[in-house]
Amino acid sequence: MTYKCAVLGCGGRSQGHAEAYRHIDRGKMVACCDINEDRLNAYGEKYDISHRYTDLDTMLEKEKPDVVHLITPPTLRVELMTRLSDAGVSGTIVEKPICIGADDYKALRELEQNTKTKFIVNHQLRHHPRILKFLKDVEKGKIGQVRFLDASAVLPMSGQGVHVLDLIFAFSDYAEVETVFGASSGYDDINGTHPSPRTAETLITFKNGIRAALQAGEGAPVFDKSRPNWGHKRIAVYGTHGFRHWWMYGCEESVPNLVIKRSEHDYADQDILGQARLTNSLFNWLEDENQVSPTNLKTSLDEWLVILAGYMSTVEARPVDMPFDPPDNLLDRFKAFVGV
Ligand SMILES: NC(=O)c1ccc[n+]([C@@H]2O[C@H](COP(=O)([O-])OP(=O)(O)OC[C@H]3O[C@@H](n4cnc5c(N)ncnc54)[C@H](O)[C@@H]3O)[C@@H](O)[C@H]2O)c1
Repeated sequence: MTYKCAVLGCGGRSQGHAEAYRHIDRGKMVACCDINEDRLNAYGEKYDISHRYTDLDTMLEKEKPDVVHLITPPTLRVELMTRLSDAGVSGTIVEKPICIGADDYKALRELEQNTKTKFIVNHQLRHHPRILKFLKDVEKGKIGQVRFLDASAVLPMSGQGVHVLDLIFAFSDYAEVETVFGASSGYDDINGTHPSPRTAETLITFKNGIRAALQAGEGAPVFDKSRPNWGHKRIAVYGTHGFRHWWMYGCEESVPNLVIKRSEHDYADQDILGQARLTNSLFNWLEDENQVSPTNLKTSLDEWLVILAGYMSTVEARPVDMPFDPPDNLLDRFKAFVGV
């Protein structure tokens, strides 16, 4: 089957979603929508999409897409996801971060329980070829039993911390989280739509015994100073018999006899394949209820609850037992705490 796919939000990030269709044969971009007509037309011209709309409801009514790529700022998630669900769209790829606070988190939990739409969050890193290889190595026991995960990003939590947190969940085999202890300071807000601590460290204990440290923002590790501030996502996975370390431009892996193998990769090449595989994972899920996409909405909300626990832990200066019910005004409490 060829899925009818549409883009909602034709800004910077939407280019990557369209480029991935060069590697996709089960879907076709048939329509796009943006409230900014200039952006809409430039995008439509570039990717040869002639059905263009400035209003979402009109696009949904006329095109009846099977899949929508929702690539707008995170402040609009609840409203737009609800409209896509109400219109009966079968599948939707929603850009990260899935939430910005606790009130939208709760609204999306409710939507997730009631919707028929299969929502997945756009953590394309989870589908990068190198990451898939490392996940396979871990699954096969090549580094023994996983004990510790160390992940970081220089862009703050809502920018890129959420991507590496998603990898932490993947490498911990989606175990339940037991406790979270977080320390955060300052305030950052990319484009006025991605509220985050300026810097945050979150220690996560999973019920299967794995421990993880997540750092995002100022002070996070920088391996290559020539790279832009968004070029420092990384994760290291330590097991009883070895380790794997991935960063955006290379990786290290321990092999027997105390040898460490190093290699480089091109992030852009990996990313476009990751984006295509993520899109295919939604098609797989649409075709087979049992092939649930790993970055599905439920899992992504479990991940967001860890971010909220980091806020809670900071404002109340205590570890947070998981799961917990975050107060609606948690983000405001954090802003008051740091003096914004
Ligand atoms: N996965 C990744 O690697 C990655 C990388 C960059 C950005 N992102 C995420 O992608 C999202 C979008 O980022 P961006 O840089 O493309 O933003 P952007 O501001 O460049 O683009 C957003 C577009 O959405 C349009 N829009 C807003 N409201 C709309 C509405 N109601 N109906 C139709 N169109 C609407 C805007 O006019 C704009 O063109 C953000 O959440 C960001 O964090 C993800």
